[in-house]
Amino acid sequence: MNKIVEVLPDKTALIERSLQVCVEQIHAAIEQRSSCTIALSGGSTPKPLYEAIATQNLPWDKIHIFWGDERYVLPDHPDSNQGMARSAWLDKVNIPAANIHPMPTEEADPSVAADQHEQHIREFFQVQPGEFPAFDLILLGIGDDGHTASLFPHTEALNVRDRLITVGNKDGQPRITFTAPLINHARCVIFVVAGASKRPALAQVFAPTADDQTYPSRLIQPQGELWWLFDEAAGLELSRS
Ligand code: 6PG
Repeated sequence: MNKIVEVLPDKTALIERSLQVCVEQIHAAIEQRSSCTIALSGGSTPKPLYEAIATQNLPWDKIHIFWGDERYVLPDHPDSNQGMARSAWLDKVNIPAANIHPMPTEEADPSVAADQHEQHIREFFQVQPGEFPAFDLILLGIGDDGHTASLFPHTEALNVRDRLITVGNKDGQPRITFTAPLINHARCVIFVVAGASKRPALAQVFAPTADDQTYPSRLIQPQGELWWLFDEAAGLELSRS
């Protein structure tokens, strides 16, 4: 794993730097493999990044969009990660509909939806049971509690090692999420983190020892590149370590 940590002076600079790194990774993937597979994070932090990516002149027909996790709501629900990315970015660019691979949330049983998406990803990447595909780029955020994607502290999802997709649980609310091993097979993982509320969790994630079950972002140790991009509000102490 190649780990890069950068602290930017403020959120605007963080988004600009995140855009630059994402665009570089997208171009590199397309140059090397003629396509780029990206899994998006949800929440609020990445929205301005998605708005910025939408302004770029990229070969959209060579880019495939997935999500690293999804709240178990329909796409038109205000909490939908898919809905946020479509309105901030995907609806603004000429990307083929077939290149957008949302996590299904229509099934009554989230575990059925997780199985469906697992099958879809296996077919897309042509991987067999027991194998993990390598996404070119996975964007992640971190919660104040140290979760990432929908891998929440002390939940069963943290220990799923033989699947690509599983059901997450946030305070009893179901989520669909990439598993830690799927994230860790990525060529490049980028955490984009802003705000002072993230400091306590970051301190534990970057500590030499801490409990992975309590701070699940510690589980993210990808075989490829791991980027941590912070604004100063979130990561000032880390830039001094
Ligand atoms: C989600 C995300 C989640 C998010 C963190 C940080 O569905 O909420 O995928 O992992 O990245 O909770 O969220 P903020 O960016 O809103 O702080």
